[in-house]
Amino acid sequence: MTAVVLESVSKVFNAGRPDEVTALTGVDLTVEQGEFVTLIGPSGCGKSTLLRLVGDLIQPSTGTVTVAGKPAHTARADQEYGIAFQQAGLFEWRTVQRNVELPLELRGTSKRERRERAREMLDLVGLGEFASHYPAQLSGGMQQRVAIARALAVHPPLLLMDEPFGALDEMTRERLQDELLRICASTGTSTIFVTHSIPEAVYLSDRVVVMSARPGRITEVVPVDLGPRGEATRQSPGFFTGITKVRRALRGDAVPAGATS
Ligand SMILES: Nc1ncnc2c1ncn2[C@@H]1O[C@H](COP(=O)(O)OP(=O)(O)O)[C@@H](O)[C@H]1O
Ligand SMILES: [Mg+2]
Repeated sequence: MTAVVLESVSKVFNAGRPDEVTALTGVDLTVEQGEFVTLIGPSGCGKSTLLRLVGDLIQPSTGTVTVAGKPAHTARADQEYGIAFQQAGLFEWRTVQRNVELPLELRGTSKRERRERAREMLDLVGLGEFASHYPAQLSGGMQQRVAIARALAVHPPLLLMDEPFGALDEMTRERLQDELLRICASTGTSTIFVTHSIPEAVYLSDRVVVMSARPGRITEVVPVDLGPRGEATRQSPGFFTGITKVRRALRGDAVPAGATS
């Protein structure tokens, strides 16, 4: 089944007012089950808006958003999503374990299952030993991993991530990229990921969706075919070719079909 389908989607904020903004226009995008898709583009081009539309946090002005074959609203009610944003957004008075349990609590999952699931997710992000710590006792990178564990705790078929690694140092960021890919692959999760970083987009993605502003729209979709990622990927010619393609797409001078560089 297709994970996400956006058809002719537009979003206008403050319609009919002097401060009217067309945040998105004419957006068509399909994300396949298990696919990793990244959104990249200049600030204000509508990346967060697109993610929020998929997550049913806002409604489109025109067009339709379908998630797991259902209207986004139904998919949200059915807990088809896990969402992680730039700020980890943990509750300081809850332990790491209980932060990860929160979405399961809200869902009415039994205490025993909650505990087991949170443990499993914390192990997955390499924080099993920190279950009883409080967020303030962890580094920024660790807090972000807790937020990812929390987003994954309900085993969402779809993960929405808005610049989740933006505040992290480069080394932590690269490690988390590898962890995220491993988690998504092992759970079959489909992902839409927003980033400002071209290398990050290329490293993570099956496809990079390039957007432009005023009005926000998709200008190009760059497929990335690098095979299983690892340390060698970051030095491979294919990686640099991907980076060049995305950079050119962002500048608006696309590579003609069939060209090799
Ligand atoms: N709630 C809102 N009300 C009014 N304008 C908004 C709102 N959310 C976003 N916008 C506007 O929509 C455009 C796209 O915003 P956003 O999706 O946050 O861009 P990005 O995430 O790519 O930086 C911007 O011009 C922004 O100011
Ligand atoms: Mg944004």
